[in-house]
Formats: sequence, structure tokens, C-alpha cells
Amino acid sequence: MIVTAGQRQALQQAACQSRQNAYAPYSGFCVGAAVLGGSGAIYPGVNIENAAYGPTICAERVAIFSAITAGESQILAVAVCTENGATPCGSCRQVMREFARDLPVFICDTAGNSHETSLAALLPDSFGPEDLKESRQ
Ligand code: THU
Repeated sequence: MIVTAGQRQALQQAACQSRQNAYAPYSGFCVGAAVLGGSGAIYPGVNIENAAYGPTICAERVAIFSAITAGESQILAVAVCTENGATPCGSCRQVMREFARDLPVFICDTAGNSHETSLAALLPDSFGPEDLKESRQ
């Protein structure tokens, strides 16, 4: 599935705009993310921290869970925006893998730079839903 230049721009804009709503009083590291669902709709997410630390959730997972909650069964692309252009954490990579074998991941920073990578590059030789199919039969 090809993501158009317009979709990429809209996705990155949603990630960078939503970053302003990040709730990160403990780390101070604000993250915004956005997911392009199979329907073409865009779902934003931010990191939401917690005084007990453990319940903190990353921006990427909030965006993905929001897309799934809205009824999307496919995620086509993810954008993430941080101050320094950081890439998604391992847990978020694995959650992406649940809903796509591979997808484009657009990494943005607050200076307006962006580059494209992919889930397959970020999570090589991955484990996914297909690996459990035989055991369920
Ligand atoms: N964080 C994300 O939102 N996404 C990532 O992929 C990496 C980390 C958040 C979690 C925490 O609120 C803060 O960044 C510092 O780890």
C-alpha cells in the first residue's frame, strides 16, 4: 500500500501538532504520534505519564489503540514527533507488528526534519500473529 506525499504530510502534521498535548510532567520528553488507518482516517496520540511511572503509555500505542477502537483493522503508516527525532521504543514496534507485517514509519523532530524508515527495518525477524496460528488449530 503506497502512502501518498499528501498523506505523509498530514500524518506528520498530526503527530507534531498532537505532541503539544503530551502529558509528560516526569520525563519532560513530549511525544506525538499519528496513525493512518486503512479507511484513510488519521488517529493522533500522545505519551501519557503517571505518578506511579509504570502505567505510563507511549504516544504510538495511544494512536494505534485509538485507531483500533474506532474500528480500523489495518494500520497503513505511523508518524512520530519528538524534539530530537527519536525512534519508537521496542514495545511500540511490537504493537505495530500486531496490525501490520511492515509499514512506513515517519520520524520527525520539532525543527521540521523528517525521514522515512519502516517497521521491518525497526523490528527485523519479528514475531507476529501468524506465528501463533498453528498452535490454535
Ligand atoms: N515515549 C513515547 O511516547 N514513545 C516512544 O517510543 C519512546 C518513549 C515516551 C514514554 C515516556 O513518557 C517518555 O517518552 C520518556 O520515555
